[in-house]
Amino acid sequence: MSIVTKPSRNQQPSTSFLNSGVPEKRLLKGTLGLGFILMAFLVVMPPVFTILGGYQSPLPIWLREVRVWARGGLEDGFVASNGPKDKLLGGLLPAGFHEGTCLSRYQSASYRKASPHLLSHYLSRRLRKYEALHRRCGPNTALYNKTIEQLKNRHNNGTAGCNYVVWIPFSGLGNRMLTLASAFLYALLTNRVLLIHPDASMRDLFCEPFPHTSWLLPSDFPMKGFPKFSRTNPRCYGKMLRRKASANSSDDAAAQRPPATVYLYLFHDYDDFDMHFFCEDDQQFLRKIPWLVIESDNYFAPSLFSIPSYEEELSRLFPKRDTVFHHLGRYLFHPTNTVWDMITRYYQAYLAKAKERVGIQIRIFNRGSPFMHMLDQILACSLRENLLPDVNLKEPIVSTTNKVVSKAVLVTCLHSEVYEKMKTMYYEHPAVTGEIVGVYQPSHEEVQQTKEETHNKKAWAEIYLLSLTDVLVTSAWSTFGYVAQGLGGLKPWILIRSENMTMPDPPCRRALSMDPCFHNPPTCSCNGKRDVDKVLVSYVRHCEDLSSGLKLVHEA
Ligand SMILES: *[C@@H]1O[C@H](CO)[C@@H](O)[C@H](O)[C@H]1NC(C)=O
Ligand SMILES: *[C@@H]1O[C@H](CO)[C@@H](O)[C@H](O)[C@H]1NC(C)=O
Ligand SMILES: *[C@@H]1O[C@H](CO)[C@@H](O)[C@H](O)[C@H]1NC(C)=O
Ligand SMILES: *[C@@H]1O[C@H](CO)[C@@H](O)[C@H](O)[C@H]1NC(C)=O
Repeated sequence: MSIVTKPSRNQQPSTSFLNSGVPEKRLLKGTLGLGFILMAFLVVMPPVFTILGGYQSPLPIWLREVRVWARGGLEDGFVASNGPKDKLLGGLLPAGFHEGTCLSRYQSASYRKASPHLLSHYLSRRLRKYEALHRRCGPNTALYNKTIEQLKNRHNNGTAGCNYVVWIPFSGLGNRMLTLASAFLYALLTNRVLLIHPDASMRDLFCEPFPHTSWLLPSDFPMKGFPKFSRTNPRCYGKMLRRKASANSSDDAAAQRPPATVYLYLFHDYDDFDMHFFCEDDQQFLRKIPWLVIESDNYFAPSLFSIPSYEEELSRLFPKRDTVFHHLGRYLFHPTNTVWDMITRYYQAYLAKAKERVGIQIRIFNRGSPFMHMLDQILACSLRENLLPDVNLKEPIVSTTNKVVSKAVLVTCLHSEVYEKMKTMYYEHPAVTGEIVGVYQPSHEEVQQTKEETHNKKAWAEIYLLSLTDVLVTSAWSTFGYVAQGLGGLKPWILIRSENMTMPDPPCRRALSMDPCFHNPPTCSCNGKRDVDKVLVSYVRHCEDLSSGLKLVHEA
């Protein structure tokens, strides 16, 4: 077995997250009594008990809180450890949803530590304002019907009451969540209503995020050619600009009367014309278009910060710039009850009782590269950064105290080799620290199946489980890891990619921030000015795992 010798470590890993727990036992004892009183109360109140058993909660908040405490106290579980939870996440989530239809929305607070990244009051107010707009303009409202009329007549006379962003899914689940959050940020900035056009593989993954009105594009939506847009579509913005550039003259119809729909092609292989989406002048033009259709495979939010007219609003929404996906992701993405059931069962079975949870997200882009190499890198990283203990190959360690510190390691990977080796390692040998290390991997699907519904459910459950860990190790370039770190508010250790099969030195690097990387930021110039370089300021940096990418960081 290849056990990497421990390299000299430079700094103590940040454990501030890990030790934020309230003195657990004391809290539990305090609540036990209350728990028993409540249980007695429940036994003589069968109807209420049924309600509780079914997890429906038409109960007043205080009673639900007590129920959670009681469960925690009686089962010695995890939920009670931080006392009553703020289920609206500090004003991020709206109140008033029926809880039973989407249990994860208000229960997530019981599984995740309270976020240390407070959201601004302004963001909270803007989200409520957005919800009101969505209610007024959402599918099948009078205003929506009016703009649909315009669309049918292919006539934009500038009188539409509401403007929209239509999001089309593309690529794997991680990419989809990143582009969807970016599209929502764009909708917030431009007072547009976000509607999505999910495909079958997204069925039963996410709850509706907005109260009152759906975010699903109605099936009778009358867009010609929908959803098969392409760069050659005359409504493609890049194509419109290309045509305009080659036309030499004023006979360009698009320049004279803005169309009712524009398709924005924001893929990794977009050209200079498509990239003009990120220019100020082009944004002025796009403001006149009631229906914008966005298709992308990239987290394009960071480059919205380079558009002058959005700068001020963005700084008010996100005084801490690197919290964009952290807040918007937790606002938008709530697992459906089916997925939540998978998450909570797995969590309780394998992760809940550990003192510390370590997530290791492995993405092997090149199947040809040896797994052992990946394992060596993970171990080298974990030992160097003190994330996992080394094992003692020579002798057993008999614990002399009862105080067992335990770590649960959650491995997510399409393959199982690394997990098997790691599990065996901690099974056959004791950790030098005497810690008990359990290694778990929920699934290994072997190949990524973007289109398959159950595959995506498992993928979503695993992303969520990773986001519930205390310490995260991720693979470079992986959007799966980006989503987990963003939701969890975690700065991961990123496994640096090796180009030539040698161990990178260092094997991993701590992320600058929890926000995802925009892999393909625009490189065009806007009216001769390179706005793109201008944004390489204090809060936008090149990514740790991809030097051509851009990401938001918090200015120290
Ligand atoms: C909008 O149109 C849909 C059908 O096209 C209809 O069911 C709905 O009632 C209309 N809404 C209003 C407010 O008129
Ligand atoms: C704009 O178009 C709508 C529907 O096509 C029509 O009802 C309305 O009268 C038009 N407004 C103007 C100012 O032309
Ligand atoms: C545009 O103008 C250039 C030079 O004036 C000319 O060579 C070219 O053919 C024109 N293109 C079109 C599409 O008219
Ligand atoms: C592998 O690549 C790294 C960095 O790219 C380089 O420093 C190292 O010398 C290379 N090793 C070999 C054996 O080529």
